[in-house]
Amino acid sequence: MSKLIAPSILSADFTRLGDEVRALKEAGADWIHVDVMDGHFVPNISIGIPIVEALAVTDPPPLDIHLQIDNPADFTEKFIDAGGDAVLGITVQAEVCRLLYSTVSTIKSRGVNAGIALSPATPLSVIEEVYDYIDMILVMTVEPGFPGQKFIHSMVDKVARLREMIDSSGHKPLIQVDGGIKLDNIKLIADAGADVIVSGSGIFGTPSYSETIASMRREINGG
Ligand code: DX5
Ligand code: ZN
Repeated sequence: MSKLIAPSILSADFTRLGDEVRALKEAGADWIHVDVMDGHFVPNISIGIPIVEALAVTDPPPLDIHLQIDNPADFTEKFIDAGGDAVLGITVQAEVCRLLYSTVSTIKSRGVNAGIALSPATPLSVIEEVYDYIDMILVMTVEPGFPGQKFIHSMVDKVARLREMIDSSGHKPLIQVDGGIKLDNIKLIADAGADVIVSGSGIFGTPSYSETIASMRREINGG
């Protein structure tokens, strides 16, 4: 499978959200990553339900919603309702999801992919007992909370270990990586085994989304 690029809409110009989505679509974005933050799990507040409703009516690429909020189980269905058919997946942070199995089950019962995100200090072992039920594991490559942070290099090894785990198992969830990824380090993390690469400032901070995404694709898929 080709590796996928998911621009994080958090770094978009929110005064022109519809135009930004269209520009990403024309630039060939595979998914749109949506960073929801609550000011509790992370020290920042970002996108909420009204923005997801607005995104859904722009005919966007599939929405990949990353909940960086406390008590995510209380909100998974609200975000699925807000985004409707545009929602491809919902990812919750393992650190704040006390009922991980039932949360994953609820997401999947709505026909949506379920992901579990791990902050940099969270070990891979926390997903062991729900591994067979999940569609994606998100390895955070920065501390969750803000765009534009520096990539944590030791996460390359974490991704490589997760890749080995997945390759030696019968179930094949996608590995997603998120935080501090730009044209100059995307190959490193893709070669370690990531399948889906999120980038915010690495795309929105460049003059041409099309050229940046095309260059990123060349880096990760060759050719
Ligand atoms: C961090 C978010 C990321 C972030 C990505 O909490 O989950 O998705 O916005 O932005 P960059 O690529 O700028 O680090
Ligand atoms: Zn994210």
